[in-house]
Amino acid sequence: SGPVRVALLGCGVVGTEVARLLLTDATELAARVGAPLELVGIAVRDVAAPRDPVVDRALLTSDAEGLVRRADVVVEVMGGIEPARSLLLAAIEGGASVVTANKALLGQDGPTLYAAADDAGVDLYFEAAVAGAIPLVRPVRESLAGDRVTRVLGIVNGTTNFVLDRMATDGLELDQAVKEAQALGYAEADPTADVEGHDAAAKAAILASLAFHTRVSVDDVHREGILAVTAQDVALAAETGHVVKLLAVAERVADGVVVRVHPALVPTGHPLASVRGAFNAVFVEAESAGELMFYGRGAGGAPTASAVLGDVVTVARHRVLGGKGPVESSHAALTVHPVAEA
Ligand code: HSE
Repeated sequence: SGPVRVALLGCGVVGTEVARLLLTDATELAARVGAPLELVGIAVRDVAAPRDPVVDRALLTSDAEGLVRRADVVVEVMGGIEPARSLLLAAIEGGASVVTANKALLGQDGPTLYAAADDAGVDLYFEAAVAGAIPLVRPVRESLAGDRVTRVLGIVNGTTNFVLDRMATDGLELDQAVKEAQALGYAEADPTADVEGHDAAAKAAILASLAFHTRVSVDDVHREGILAVTAQDVALAAETGHVVKLLAVAERVADGVVVRVHPALVPTGHPLASVRGAFNAVFVEAESAGELMFYGRGAGGAPTASAVLGDVVTVARHRVLGGKGPVESSHAALTVHPVAEA
């Protein structure tokens, strides 16, 4: 069949990697999709800004709305709420499939996008929005669709994990470790989203919504970041055989769910204690499956691009065959309990 037209919204660390892989792996990707993937444009804020040479400057445009109308698959890696939200709704309403890595947007307004995609009969895939390269969204959303998830618990922010790790191993202060995380491409554009726990809370909301087939917004998540954690706290924890980790927890309770993000003392013998640097690890507990553990690189350009490309192949394949992935808009409204009542 004819090529599947792909539009890229955003060309930062992740977008550049996606563009690179679409180019270098074109033949393999075409074989997996059953049609070539044609990158028709890359929407950026500043077309004149310096770019990695792998980015074909002829594809750059500042007209994201126009680009969206020319695509079968819209890949959003720009981040932030607007204009990403309007662009993705326009893409969906125009009949394009959407792949997004935008945890902030899905954490805040996921149900609007899920409903729009279901109404339009198009795919909305977002593996890269939670835990970078780790296949986690699809296992929770699709593989466990026949089970009943009871708890999701883990480390879902690579920046804070890297920072806490550097504070523990080298006694670094928080600011210094954050600068290193930024240089390595792990941190958000504004790293307060990482250190204040907003990024982890958005991911927790997305996971809780999928795991419990309900609607959890980032505003429902009890959130405490790592700003109050000092090098001394980390050293004291070590003396008692613990490490400090920023945990995200989503649990099913009697008649609803509880979702929270906060620093926790993890015993050094626990598998989560050995999760280092920008790695993430998530435990999922389900009634029939029992306990499952997901582990891998949770941040960085290449790992995140891997998850994005996997989604692009899947949604493009669905277009070639005619079909669509999971439906979200019929989800039940479970009560989200404040943590104090849990
Ligand atoms: N800033 C995020 C993190 C990037 O550190 O985990 C991946 O979502």
